[in-house]
Amino acid sequence: MNLIPEIPLGQIHILVTGAGRGIGKSIAQTLARNGARVMVTDFNEDWANETAEEIRKEGGEAQASKLDVTKTADAEAALNKMLGFWNKLDIWVNNAGVSTMNHFLDLTEKDWDDNMDINAKGIFLCTQVAVRQMIRQPINVNTGLRGKIISTASMASKRGNAPFLAHYVASKFAAMGLTQSMAGELAQYGITANCVCPGYVATSMQERELGWEASLRGVTVEKVKELYIADTPLKRLQVAQDVASVVLFLASPAADFITGEAINVNGGAFMD
Ligand SMILES: NC(=O)c1ccc[n+]([C@@H]2O[C@H](COP(=O)([O-])OP(=O)(O)OC[C@H]3O[C@@H](n4cnc5c(N)ncnc54)[C@H](O)[C@@H]3O)[C@@H](O)[C@H]2O)c1
Repeated sequence: MNLIPEIPLGQIHILVTGAGRGIGKSIAQTLARNGARVMVTDFNEDWANETAEEIRKEGGEAQASKLDVTKTADAEAALNKMLGFWNKLDIWVNNAGVSTMNHFLDLTEKDWDDNMDINAKGIFLCTQVAVRQMIRQPINVNTGLRGKIISTASMASKRGNAPFLAHYVASKFAAMGLTQSMAGELAQYGITANCVCPGYVATSMQERELGWEASLRGVTVEKVKELYIADTPLKRLQVAQDVASVVLFLASPAADFITGEAINVNGGAFMD
């Protein structure tokens, strides 16, 4: 279940947002284990530093920077720091995201704004920064590519019927739509854009959601966990590595001709 796949990436340069915890941390570790130089970023600078330190301890190459994805200036600063070390950006992974849960009528404007700002607008702002750099870099004559944008969307990008998550669903549909739009427009520069759509992943986000959902449904946390597993044909909760492994594939040359895709990685919980 926790098998870490080996797809050698060579010495490419990848920035990951929201990589201090959860799925982003696993993405950063997995890419580094396969040879990438990783700029680990997070809203929480200490967590970013921790992830980078863990990668270095196991022999990988990583640096860290604070990056709040709602701030263009943060994205530019993290990129400049990265360029100072390695002078190259090959792949930008938009992973940072947040959620809250409530009945539709009880959701607040702040719930809406936070989810839309971080989960959707954050991808827009960060990708602009990434692409401006990528188009300054020479095209790879062998692949015809300059760079890749990979984003963490969600099963909620495709399945609107997700209780207590109307605002999150809206932000994740936006993330997927943006991915498709970017793929169309950025192809002319040799830049691909794809996203992954995880299901029920055991992370700190899920811990918080289990608590909220249990209280909104009037059941125990264990009962909600059972519901998530029952909704998943492969009959277990996902782990972050399940998602990171697909991001590794998208980062690799094996996926060079894929663009505009939203790849389900959810144990069959949603199929399309
Ligand atoms: N856990 C799941 O079940 C699940 C399912 C589908 C999609 N996702 C998506 O996967 C991504 C990662 O989620 P996770 O489960 O690892 O969550 P998590 O809460 O465990 O980790 C999220 C990380 O993002 C960081 N972050 C939060 N706001 C930020 C901001 N404004 N700028 C930069 N970093 C910020 C946090 O500090 C944290 O390190 C999110 O986009 C989430 O929506 C999660």
